[in-house]
Amino acid sequence: MTLDFETAKERIEKLRDLINYHNRRYYVLDSPEISDAEYDGLMQELRDQEAQFPQLVIPDSPTQRVGAEPLAAFGVVEHRLPLLSLSNAFSTEDLYAWHTRTRRLLDVDRFDMVCEHKIDGLAVALVYENSRLVRGATRGDGYRGENITQNLRTIRSVPLTLPGGAPPAFEVRGEVYLPRAGFQKLNREREAEGLPLFANPRNAAAGSVRQLDPRITAKRPLDIYIYSLGWVQGGTVPGTHWERMQYLTRLGFKVNPNLKKVAAIEEAEEYHQHWLHQRETMPYEADGIVVKVDSIECQERLGDIGREPRWAIAYKFPAIQGSTRLKEIGISVGRTGTLNPYAILEPVQVGGVTIKQAALHNEDDIRRKDIREGDWVYIQRAGDVIPEVVGPIIGRRTGNEKPFSLIDKLPKDERGRPLCPACGHEVIKPADEVMYYCSNAACPVQVQRRMELFVSRGGMDIRGIGESLIEMLFREGFVKDVADLYKLKEKRDRLILIERMGEKSADNILAAIEKSKNASLPRLIYALGIRHVGEETANLLAEHFTDLAGLASSGAERLMHVPSIGPKIAESIAAFFRQEENRRVVEKLKQAGVWPHREIVKNEGLPLVGKEFVITGTLKAFSREVAHERIKALGGTAKETVTRKTAYLVVGEDPGASKVERARALSTQQIYEEQFIAILEQKG
Ligand code: IVH
Repeated sequence: MTLDFETAKERIEKLRDLINYHNRRYYVLDSPEISDAEYDGLMQELRDQEAQFPQLVIPDSPTQRVGAEPLAAFGVVEHRLPLLSLSNAFSTEDLYAWHTRTRRLLDVDRFDMVCEHKIDGLAVALVYENSRLVRGATRGDGYRGENITQNLRTIRSVPLTLPGGAPPAFEVRGEVYLPRAGFQKLNREREAEGLPLFANPRNAAAGSVRQLDPRITAKRPLDIYIYSLGWVQGGTVPGTHWERMQYLTRLGFKVNPNLKKVAAIEEAEEYHQHWLHQRETMPYEADGIVVKVDSIECQERLGDIGREPRWAIAYKFPAIQGSTRLKEIGISVGRTGTLNPYAILEPVQVGGVTIKQAALHNEDDIRRKDIREGDWVYIQRAGDVIPEVVGPIIGRRTGNEKPFSLIDKLPKDERGRPLCPACGHEVIKPADEVMYYCSNAACPVQVQRRMELFVSRGGMDIRGIGESLIEMLFREGFVKDVADLYKLKEKRDRLILIERMGEKSADNILAAIEKSKNASLPRLIYALGIRHVGEETANLLAEHFTDLAGLASSGAERLMHVPSIGPKIAESIAAFFRQEENRRVVEKLKQAGVWPHREIVKNEGLPLVGKEFVITGTLKAFSREVAHERIKALGGTAKETVTRKTAYLVVGEDPGASKVERARALSTQQIYEEQFIAILEQKG
């Protein structure tokens, strides 16, 4: 539809208002009123109209957020008021000391404060003139930053225009960040494209905002939280930080919803504690909280020292990321024989814990992240999991770093073939896998790792036996495999002599071992440590086999008939039991009386023993499968075809003609659903 110029102009303005409104509902307030499709429809209409009347396109149009032409370099922006940084508190004492000092400086007993999340992104300053965004800049050195206006315009939650009521000219400050989900998505895409990964959301946000090509920035899911009002020219603004944040929200800026006004420092401490525990569940990364004096007049009286204001303090969370030097890559042998590379680090404190080693996943992963021996690397720990190496800090390379090759690290035989570092047996790499394996099932380290799994909580749950005792038991020759645990009681005399053991703990351990004989079949299957067989798969297998012998003797072919077991798992199980060593252990377990088996329901005595049922048509009360189960539970059998042996044909709705006919021919008794239910209930 072609509109005349005047009508088009009106429509375009209307569309822009509408889109800006819905933009704000969606990106700033997080509560959209229309569907994505409706929003897209409005955008498309605006794009169409602007295409017809290019003279009506303005830089503030929502269609212009996609990113302008690339720049050769960023211009420099001088900040009218410097962007300061914050002083840090790392403990309650630091926080309380700040509070006491501030009270003294203000000469008051108490003062209001605002607590906020300290978002881990990068600081920017946005300047608005006559309700339009005219400039956006990085913090830079605090006095001069880079002009990144084009890039900031691509962030949907940055308003390009403001409603009435804004001061004629002013600056707001905030943190541009990448939400966790966006960060993970970005890294997945980069991984697929073979690009180096970002170490953390902060680096990713910084990298995205400082792109000379705004079209790249436009594709990154960046967001912003405004955390202060900078300078203001003309107009009047509220006199407290709290009210200013509400005022900025009304103007359309995105302010973090978790701000809290407090009067006592204990409340700030609670706020810190609360969010420290919520930290992992937050949609963005925060490295602490910021506590600010609420009154602007008080802020001005307090002023700054050096480049830090005295009216605010950052109370940091313990770091979960740190950086250190990776001295060397070592190789350990896992339970299933995997050769696992791990990082040997220059010790570093991360989140209050000293870290000397960290996980590296496999050779492919090390190559993809380009982690080299000698590199400075980022280390990360989350919760209780093993710390991991996130990636190298490329900027700190000296040129002496060594790219990693797993094969180079392994000992070799006389013909140059790589060997297991623990047992000296041959190393293999299955074609479809990224890991190398030690081929020796009796490899002592593998056997020890398997015992760790065997005694673990999800396995046989033998309390009191940990990594170091296991090592000792092997070293002192008490055990050679997991089945030997059950012979330990014969060696009690020697066992109590083990370092730090004594009679009492020896007896506790022996009792725990004895008790584990009662463990269920799925636990035992899991505890064996068959590659690809986790707890869930063990449960499935245990439903299908009555004991370990049944499982051990089925080939891959039969295993694939077990629901949810695919060829990979089936082959892995079959391969496990093909190994002589593993079969021997199973036999020893049986001898020792570790032989759980699923109770086979004894049919005798059940009311429907010897009765064969066939069901035809649909039943109202239950599905065919459930009906079959009910029959079996009472000792009967359920079949699909009517034969001479069929006792009852249960006729549901829309019965099959052939079954009914056959039943008639054989004079089989036909019953309806009600009678069938009566039989089940009466006998059940
Ligand atoms: S207020 C005068 N509030 O932390 C200080 N900063 O080390 C003004 N930051 O460069 C900063 N979240 O990038 C403030 N809620 C928040 C913040 C915050 C993150 C960053 C900001 C600043 C750095 C200070």
